[in-house]
Parts: sequence; C-alpha cells; structure tokens
Amino acid sequence: MNSNHSPEEFDSKPRSPLGQAEGIPLSKDAILAHLVTERIGRRLQILEEIDSTNSHLGRMAEPAEDGTVAAAEHQTLGRGRHGRQWISPPGRNVMFSILLKESSTPAPILTLIGAVAAAQVLSDLGAPVGIKWPNDIVAVEPLSTQDSSWRAPGRKLGGVLCESRSCGRGRLLAILGIGVNINMLPSDFPEDLRDRSTSLAGLTAMFWDRNLLIAAILNRIEALESLAADDSPVAIVEAARRICLTLGRRIRVRGGEWEAEGVAVDLDPLGRLLLRGDAGEITPLELGEVTQTRSVE
Ligand code: BTN
Repeated sequence: MNSNHSPEEFDSKPRSPLGQAEGIPLSKDAILAHLVTERIGRRLQILEEIDSTNSHLGRMAEPAEDGTVAAAEHQTLGRGRHGRQWISPPGRNVMFSILLKESSTPAPILTLIGAVAAAQVLSDLGAPVGIKWPNDIVAVEPLSTQDSSWRAPGRKLGGVLCESRSCGRGRLLAILGIGVNINMLPSDFPEDLRDRSTSLAGLTAMFWDRNLLIAAILNRIEALESLAADDSPVAIVEAARRICLTLGRRIRVRGGEWEAEGVAVDLDPLGRLLLRGDAGEITPLELGEVTQTRSVE
C-alpha cells in the first residue's frame, strides 16, 4: 500500500502533550505544503463556518473542478449517515469534503477508500484504530478476558459520508465527506456520546496539527482512488478487509425497512458485507447500520 507520509515525518511536526497545546488553525498554505497529490486538494477552500462541507460542495459542484476540497473549522449542520447530525465543536477536529467528478469508482468503494485512508493515517500515528463496516473509524477494543477477540470495534472517532449521483456512462459525481475527531477531550463530547466516542488525542495523549492530518488523508485517498480506477476495487476491498473490525463477529444490521442478524464473514469484491444467517445462507449487504456486535465463540 502506498504511504506518502511516514510516522517519522509526523514525529518532526508540531504536536504537543495534552494540556499544553494552543489550537493550530486550519491553513491553506500548511495543507498545500504537505500535499503530494495531482488532483485532490489542489483547489482548496478553508471555511471558518459553513452548514456542511458536503452541502457546500453540492451547491458549487457544477462550476467547481474535479478534486476540489472544502475543509471547515466549524459546521453548523454537519451531516452523518442515516440522516444523523455530525457534531463537532469549532477548531478541534478534521471535517472536509472532496468533489469527485466523473469518478469511475462506485460509491460503496469510495466510502471504503475514505474510511481506509483515514484509518491508515491514524494507525501510522500510533492510534489503534480500524473500521466498522461500512464507514466508521473506530478504536480497537483492548483485549479483555470477557472477549476472546482483540479485533472488537470500540469507540467511534470518525465517519465517512459519500453522496453521489450518476452522470452517465457508468460515471459518478461524488462528494466524499470525512469527519475525524482529532483534538477533542472527553469533556468536549455531549454527554450522550461521551462513552461511545473518542479522538486521536484521546488515543495518543497528544494534540495534533490538523493541517498535516488533512494533507495526509488526502494524499492517501488519491493513491487509493487511482489504485481503484487503474486496477480494480479489489485492492481497496483487500485493504479494508485487513482492518475491518466487523468481520468474524455476530452482528445485527438495520436498513430502512429491514433488519438482519448473523455472522459477518467477509467483504465481497464490491465492498458488500457478506452476512451468514443462522441457516447458513450468505446475504450480501450493500448498506445498513451495524447496531450490535459480539465475538463468535
Ligand atoms: C457518519 O459517521 O455517519 C458520517 C459522518 C461524516 C461527517 C463529515 S464531516 C465533513 C462532511 N460534512 C458533513 O456534513 N458530513 C461529512
């Protein structure tokens, strides 16, 4: 897997122990200085406040160039999947969206690309994270005597919202939005989310420069997207499979009107979750929310 930024590079960049850092603001120059992409992020907007970076790029999709990125210090109407809100206090986290015009990569694979890219960057920085299918970036639950599996999905620190529409000839106009909690402390989370959420700072006991993280995630996304376009989505699915904490667990999945239960056995080449029901039948799931997981004894 291509890695454009090594952990050593990050080690030489500004970060500071918890409690001593001044917030470093988002800066176009700082992000561009660390970008090694050809398309993604070369047009870059830093927004002090916006409703949602996904909605913003949706409004300007026609004139804007492919690869345009909008990153925000604050979203007033940040959106998650299933009509949920994405809540983040100003100036602490990473929230950005990428406009992809005429993308040949299907939306479920773009979602996996966003989740894998963010998870790989956070892992390089020493945070034990993986993905909860299809779009959550979660901490790896520590080994416990109650649970024989160390691959359990734990607290959430990020998510991906991919919104797309067909533009013909099998191509998509897609907006890939990513939110990752970076410099949030437990007291920053609303009470109802506090025991289900974490941040990069929470996992590493460091505050981080968000500009470097945005550049590193964009670099990784472009590398993965080219891989998907040149080769096939299989390489992306393979990378996702390696860090997918949902696999091998008994789960319940909820869609709009349906609910299914079984063991998450694998991802198929289209990025769908293969669920084995109690009668042994395998159902490929394209979307859904995993509501409960436990290890399979
Ligand atoms: C989820 O976990 O349900 C997805 C969360 C996605 C949040 C990001 S933040 C940047 C972009 N703008 C939005 O309104 N949402 C995405």
